[in-house]
Amino acid sequence: MEHLRVTPGESDRSYGILIGSGNLDQLGAHLKQLDLASRLCLITNTTVGGLYGDRVRSILAEAGYAVSYIEVPDGEEYKSQTTAAAVYDRMVDAGIERGSAVVALGGGVVGDLAGFAAATYMRGVPLVQVPTTLLAQVDSSVGGKVAVNHARGKNLIGCFYQPRLVYADMKVLSTLPERELRAGLGEVIKYGMIRDAGLFGFLEQHLEQLLGLEPEILAETVRRSCAIKVEIVSEDEYEQGLRAILNFGHTIGHALETLTDYKVYRHGEAVAAGMAAAASLSVNRGCMDATDRDRLVSLLRRARLPVSCPYPPEQVMALLSHDKKVLRGRLRFIMPLSIGRVEICTGVKEQEILAALRQCRQ
Ligand SMILES: NC(=O)c1ccc[n+]([C@@H]2O[C@H](COP(=O)([O-])OP(=O)(O)OC[C@H]3O[C@@H](n4cnc5c(N)ncnc54)[C@H](O)[C@@H]3O)[C@@H](O)[C@H]2O)c1
Repeated sequence: MEHLRVTPGESDRSYGILIGSGNLDQLGAHLKQLDLASRLCLITNTTVGGLYGDRVRSILAEAGYAVSYIEVPDGEEYKSQTTAAAVYDRMVDAGIERGSAVVALGGGVVGDLAGFAAATYMRGVPLVQVPTTLLAQVDSSVGGKVAVNHARGKNLIGCFYQPRLVYADMKVLSTLPERELRAGLGEVIKYGMIRDAGLFGFLEQHLEQLLGLEPEILAETVRRSCAIKVEIVSEDEYEQGLRAILNFGHTIGHALETLTDYKVYRHGEAVAAGMAAAASLSVNRGCMDATDRDRLVSLLRRARLPVSCPYPPEQVMALLSHDKKVLRGRLRFIMPLSIGRVEICTGVKEQEILAALRQCRQ
């Protein structure tokens, strides 16, 4: 099993990320090392619960934990204050106390919701993330952002709250719908682009094996992706600077998600289209070689991710200025410079974005 250690800010909040294949059965043994109370609150959704709920409950029970089990409905729309309130009710009923950990078993939606409940219940109880989508394994479970959505915007109600452990088993990805796997790959390709040309090359070499869920290739991909996120969030826990590079592809990606009311794209798909457009913009201003843009587009295509923005550029542009990535009135754009290297850029003109969007319409 691969071990990574995250040390955000002060070292007393450092935590481990364990990545393996077929390691779910050892979850209880690993929790034992965390000195938690004997009652745990396992939070999942109906889909993941149906697949792994009973198994994880018995793994935890065999390790000596009394398990309170909470299942929420499946879907982004349930990452809400209403669901959080229902979760608090169940936690109170179950007698969850300060030292009792919340174990979040699921994708990013469950991780964010259960993490938010853990962060706020009794001013914070220990949180363990057991991510079951590729996106959650490489992204949402690491870094300590937890949130629920508000009617006026995604993730508007949330905080930074670090888990005590992130525990990822590649085997659970075997039940993941293929489209979810590919969407997660969008974020993985992003890591290669922002920080690690070696990872990008590894993906070019092994994409088919990854899509075929070869355990070693998957574990290596998740490990390298997490290592990049860990490095970035350890340096900039509260998104004061460097952490913004994780948003590469997200400025235009978010606009596409908003424009289509979150009904057309999975998040990683929108990010893929956003990265392709950002690369064209960068090539246009002479900041990146066209060959690097072509490598990116070709890898995204092989992962069957979208590389075009088939909507009127003016409509996409109008949404950009509402994006959270606008800092004091100026758009903060993550500009790719080459494979593995990006910079934070605040001087991008509206006309440049429009031109790139026009180029990427087909
Ligand atoms: N906190 C962060 O830093 C951060 C970062 C990125 C994304 N996010 C959030 O993550 C969420 C998206 O997460 P996601 O892409 O994992 O989506 P998701 O949690 O909705 O999961 C996708 C689908 O796969 C199902 N599923 C999960 N694991 C499965 C498995 N092993 N087998 C079969 N089905 C499985 C889920 O039930 C769901 O239907 C968004 O809410 C986003 O805001 C948070």
